[in-house]
Amino acid sequence: IGSVASHFVGDRHADGEIASLRPGEGMIVHSDEGKVAAYRAEDGSIHKLSPACPHMGCFVQWNSAEKSWDCPCHGSRFSIEGEVLEGPAISPLKEFGES
Ligand code: FES
Repeated sequence: IGSVASHFVGDRHADGEIASLRPGEGMIVHSDEGKVAAYRAEDGSIHKLSPACPHMGCFVQWNSAEKSWDCPCHGSRFSIEGEVLEGPAISPLKEFGES
């Protein structure tokens, strides 16, 4: 079990949304620091990625059937860890807060 503080982004509204995520669910959360692609793993841990697609910057969307982050612009798909599943993107989604 990770520290509770690491689950949060320091914004009450965004933190509430992230806290409401059920295991195996992801969603795009709007925080003071920008959009967050948040996913709760089956073990309860939260994975936070930047939702900006590395291809051309569109925001990815949660695909609940495939448990992936899919880009609506040109079809790139990313795993819950941010790894590229399908191009045209060639680099992964960044961790949230990484510049
Ligand atoms: Fe995401 Fe092109 S911007 S696939």
